[in-house]
Amino acid sequence: MNRKRIIAGNWKMNKVIEESLSLVNELKEAVQGINDSIEIVVSPPFTTLSVINDIIKGSNILLAAQDVFWEDKGAYTGEISPVMLKDVGCKYTIIGHSERRQYFNETNETVNKKIKAVLKNDLSVIVCVGETLEERENETTFSVIGTQIRDGLNGLGQKDMEQVVIAYEPVWAIGTGKTATPSQANEVHIFIRDTIKEMFGDEIASSITIQYGGSVNPSNITELMSESDIDGALVGGASLDSGSFIQIIRGAL
Ligand code: PGA
Repeated sequence: MNRKRIIAGNWKMNKVIEESLSLVNELKEAVQGINDSIEIVVSPPFTTLSVINDIIKGSNILLAAQDVFWEDKGAYTGEISPVMLKDVGCKYTIIGHSERRQYFNETNETVNKKIKAVLKNDLSVIVCVGETLEERENETTFSVIGTQIRDGLNGLGQKDMEQVVIAYEPVWAIGTGKTATPSQANEVHIFIRDTIKEMFGDEIASSITIQYGGSVNPSNITELMSESDIDGALVGGASLDSGSFIQIIRGAL
């Protein structure tokens, strides 16, 4: 299957302007010759989106935001709209990251509202799903993820789904150094693809990109990418260093 493969770096709440600039300049230089079989995405904090956009414009690196609000504008102090993200050069926004679910009351319903608002503004989304350690131990992984997918993507059409990427990120593997084994991850990726198939049909299911995230690093990327249903990675910690992020990109080629 010729699915788009995507390696994205989620910088989370890291890097002031100067640090961001040196990271992205190093990255840009290193990925110049890389063929377009892999899409490369960086997701810096809101405060550096604009300066980074100036640097990567015309290169093979795309820009993503880490979150978004569901209204286009108005009296919502502190929020950032899809219109603003588009204006600043974003191609993607991440939605529903487990840290937003855990610390900022993100729910499947707010994820759904955000996805719809973003798609209406012609941006693409990376929708994060994943189970906690407790849920895995209670053997509710599939039901939790099934609900996250069904509620999160509720009401979308097939055309909308062309702009949707899913990131499977087991919460217990994020920032912990514990990676799901490639086959453990792939099992969930297959389940996600089956759920998408039930909702949107075979064509969307077989073409949608499903990334894995959770302690991805240069030494595990190749094995993860060799699985049948893993189409890329959403990388946190290891994307903060240009050397390791570049190695991950190369390892995924
Ligand atoms: P990590 O984070 O690579 O540091 O585990 C992944 C993520 O949260 O997207």
